Amino acid sequence: MRILIAGIDGYLGWSLACYLGEQGHRLAGIDNGLRRTMVDEIGSTSAVPIKTLHERRLAWEHRFGRKLHTYTYDLTTESSVSRVIAFFKPEAIVHLGEIPSAPYSMIPGNEWPVQQNNLGATWSLMNAIRHHAPDCHLVKLGSMGEYGTPDGPIPEASSKDFPRQPGSFYHASKVHGTVNLALAADVWGLSSTDIMQGVVFGTTLIDYIDDPVLATRLDFDECFGTAINRFVCQAVIGHPLTIYGAGGQTRGYLPLADSMRCIELLLQNPPYLGEHRVVNQFAEVHSIKDLARTVARLTGAEVKHYENPRREAEAHQYDPVSGILAGLGYTPSTTVDDEVSRMVEALTPHQTCIAAYESVLIPCRRWDGTNRRSEPLIGVTS
Ligand SMILES: NC(=O)c1ccc[n+]([C@@H]2O[C@H](COP(=O)([O-])OP(=O)(O)OC[C@H]3O[C@@H](n4cnc5c(N)ncnc54)[C@H](O)[C@@H]3O)[C@@H](O)[C@H]2O)c1
Repeated sequence: MRILIAGIDGYLGWSLACYLGEQGHRLAGIDNGLRRTMVDEIGSTSAVPIKTLHERRLAWEHRFGRKLHTYTYDLTTESSVSRVIAFFKPEAIVHLGEIPSAPYSMIPGNEWPVQQNNLGATWSLMNAIRHHAPDCHLVKLGSMGEYGTPDGPIPEASSKDFPRQPGSFYHASKVHGTVNLALAADVWGLSSTDIMQGVVFGTTLIDYIDDPVLATRLDFDECFGTAINRFVCQAVIGHPLTIYGAGGQTRGYLPLADSMRCIELLLQNPPYLGEHRVVNQFAEVHSIKDLARTVARLTGAEVKHYENPRREAEAHQYDPVSGILAGLGYTPSTTVDDEVSRMVEALTPHQTCIAAYESVLIPCRRWDGTNRRSEPLIGVTS
């Protein structure tokens, strides 16, 4: 299949390029390096050393023996996106090219630029498909966070059929994307799969793709590090695991390799022309407190509760449904326990790098717009 990856240089994008490369697909990718710039801007780095996109491309071509077209374009520039789509003629586009961070979107001044970037990128892709590749299947990464934490089951449903309750400007940008995809399906006949994805964790692709030049990034700071990835980075340098507030915040999680497998299944089984298919994508549901306990049990790390910088429910019902991927044959390939053990092994060699950036492990960016280091909560234990 000819597949364009928007956001090819990111955590999921580069993993997907390697995964689909191994499956024999023809690939092209767009990325303007924004993720690298933003992580620099907040004073952090990837725990796993990564190469430039140019070096990655050369290593990819060497390994898979065919061409990888990469373009350093801004996805919000419609003319650039249209040129790539008209030239490459993708059968499918996987759209990962957005700013993925709730805390980053809540930093004063970032709210609108995050929305502009995310809505603009999706808009360019939708419009370019409409004009240059109307049969192309658009697979867009949304977030389980679009639904918020409602009482009762969370179905696999569009914004027309189930309410959205975003808790950050980032999540609001995802909701707006969902609304636009649904409308484009109705009025233009655009076919899309809108993945409500849980939190991804892991480094496992590094194990089966042994070339370090092909490694994907892994972040551990408060803006771009996600729950399990941060805990394991903290554990390998002997830093306490930082639970925000009471720790009852419950979400869906899935290992990196499974995220790739699920996207592949959805590419192989496209929706019908004009369908906006909403898919909930996660393997397991856990509270932050339970995840911290798991990482602590496997590593001996201490667990500490800190003031929660976010505005969110710290104890709530969470009952998401996931039927579409199971129907396509997805079963989780591993467990949180097994993947965490593999991550400890993969990240231990990078202890010095993580320790050098230890200051980014305690959150400072607060939902009320202030910037103050969270203090430990006295008397709260897991
Ligand atoms: N990682 C997760 O746990 C997770 C969970 C749910 C949803 N998602 C979604 O999956 C997608 C990918 O996530 P990720 O963790 O790989 O993030 P990422 O930041 O590592 O990847 C996104 C890539 O897109 C690029 N990009 C962003 N805006 C761009 C623009 N205007 N032009 C060109 N390139 C641009 C960035 O440089 C980056 O390389 C995002 O949409 C994210 O919201 C991720």
